[in-house]
Amino acid sequence: MKSPIFRKLLGWLFPALLSGFSLAATAETPAAMAERYAQRVAQEQPGFTPDPARGEAFYRKNHGVSADMPGCHACHGADPRQSGKHVVTGKTIAPMAVSANPERFTDEAKIEKWFRRNCKEVVGRECTAAEKADFLAWLVRQ
Ligand code: HEC
Repeated sequence: MKSPIFRKLLGWLFPALLSGFSLAATAETPAAMAERYAQRVAQEQPGFTPDPARGEAFYRKNHGVSADMPGCHACHGADPRQSGKHVVTGKTIAPMAVSANPERFTDEAKIEKWFRRNCKEVVGRECTAAEKADFLAWLVRQ
């Protein structure tokens, strides 16, 4: 570490690494995540634009599959800017709206895990890529 060359290299490497990290972090904002979901659908359905109104309708719909959990609102609440309550366990669920909870939709593995579980229970099947894109489009704007 005594060599000046080495020090110069570190001086260059550190800022580069730091900016690399911050780029990775900005790619995981909820808005960027919503955009990624939308682009995925657009690849299959050219011209697809996510529709927040469709996302809201999906959230509020009674799917008629489960008596306990008729819709997403059953646990996540009528107002996604407020905390929800799990219909079975009674546990509080943090708000789904990004404005009230900036941690939402920042981890794709988490998003997919819960879409899989909740869609199967509520809708009786996995949600489509378009339904997911609309859902995120609505909640990142709430
Ligand atoms: C039985 C209760 C329940 C119902 C009904 C429910 N959810 Fe959830 N959902 C949860 C819980 C619990 C979590 C995890 C805790 C948390 O993220 O606060 C969660 C988390 C999520 C997440 C992860 C969000 C993130 O932070 O990344 C998504 C996406 C999601 N739910 C979508 C849905 C959709 C779509 C529906 C309707 C089809 C739905 N949920 C209905 C209980 C429910």
